[in-house]
Amino acid sequence: MIKLPPDSKLLDPSFTFGVATASFQIEGANQEDGRLPSIWDTFCATPGKVFNGDDGSIACDHYHRWQDDIELISQLNVDAYRLSIAWPRVLDKDGALNDKGVQFYRNLLTALKAKGIRTFVTLYHWDLPQYLEDLGGWVNRQTAYRFAEYVDVITKALGDLVDSWATFNEPFCAAILGYEYGIHAPGHKNHRLGRQAAHHILLAHGLAMPIIRRNCPNSQAGIVLNMNRTYAASASPDDRFAALIRDTLDNHFFIAPLLTGAYPKLLGRVLPDYLPVIAEGDLEIIAQPIDFLGLNYYTCNHNRFHPERIFEDVKNSEPAEYTDIGWEIAPHAFTELLVELNQQYTLPPLFITENGAACADSLVDGTVDDDQRVRYINSHLQAVDAAINAGVDIRGYFAWSLMDNFEWAEGYNKRFGLIYVDYRTQERTIKRSGHVFKDFLASRKA
Ligand code: FCB
Repeated sequence: MIKLPPDSKLLDPSFTFGVATASFQIEGANQEDGRLPSIWDTFCATPGKVFNGDDGSIACDHYHRWQDDIELISQLNVDAYRLSIAWPRVLDKDGALNDKGVQFYRNLLTALKAKGIRTFVTLYHWDLPQYLEDLGGWVNRQTAYRFAEYVDVITKALGDLVDSWATFNEPFCAAILGYEYGIHAPGHKNHRLGRQAAHHILLAHGLAMPIIRRNCPNSQAGIVLNMNRTYAASASPDDRFAALIRDTLDNHFFIAPLLTGAYPKLLGRVLPDYLPVIAEGDLEIIAQPIDFLGLNYYTCNHNRFHPERIFEDVKNSEPAEYTDIGWEIAPHAFTELLVELNQQYTLPPLFITENGAACADSLVDGTVDDDQRVRYINSHLQAVDAAINAGVDIRGYFAWSLMDNFEWAEGYNKRFGLIYVDYRTQERTIKRSGHVFKDFLASRKA
């Protein structure tokens, strides 16, 4: 059950509820209709990078089953659907549109609109064309300009069907997990590369914003960041310093240039080596106004001082519940994060663009009883409600995810869906959480 106070803003029809997915995680058909290889195809094909050697060649076969999937989305009674466009599916190497790839998204978006479902489209959810990675990927400043060209042609081709555009999903993950920690594609391990990639992604966002506004004056335009609430493992000054640095590198490094036009000052004093090379005028480009900020929230972290790396993750010293991917369930941290951001920045309207839980689901007699996910969603909706009551302007909530899918380096081993996918048969089964969400959304409309 979803339990919210009767006067909760989340029950207002103007609050947007949706489910989210991303192209590489669900589409499959990665060699069909002229789709070019992406960095995730390469990463999956590299031994030892992805659990079980899983790849995106079939995924949820959404490229072929999209009509059935839209039926399911519609059955969930959502107001909106958040999806992403695969850049290597819609653009050829020479920058010309791939008509078949574009047609796939036109069909999908048209069908969503016909059902009255609003469309929230992310332009980059990590599937960079491999030919651009071969030229240096996001470490190469030119990639930002290639992104702007891609955005120009694709927003012209799809703009009439899109309510809300997000330039990027989670620059932190794309740049830092991909180029600094090496656990996501393209798998580099160098903090200078990571921070430079991040800067170029933010630059690409800034270059794309006026293009979206020009091509789609009736759509909203913004960006999606991921954030974890950062705690110190103890009250010791060292641990508090560790948490501060973690928060700066993971969170403020991304939100500060977007909203204030500067990287966090602390970095210049403590870790100047983490500041990217910035060309004149870049920060003005990055910091232009956005209509909304999307926030993806899953968990919090606890940080202990480490003599070389400054911080290291430790488990919460208090008893806590964890999901199947090992992430602490911390709805109170969600409220705190939102309220603190609202104190620290002048925020545009927020959308929670992802929130959800990985559970060790099993299909028994045609049902999936994912009690933990039901409790997770309920407590996190309550956390959003509390943040709104504390003055944060939050306009929507998207559950991650519509259905189980390719969970990046975890392959198909971690399930986040409201809908269960049997990968042998591609059969979909709405889990108990999906039914709870669906019934909640129906009651809201009644
Ligand atoms: C986020 C990603 C999303 C999904 C969830 C679990 O970081 O944006 O694609 O994998 O985590």
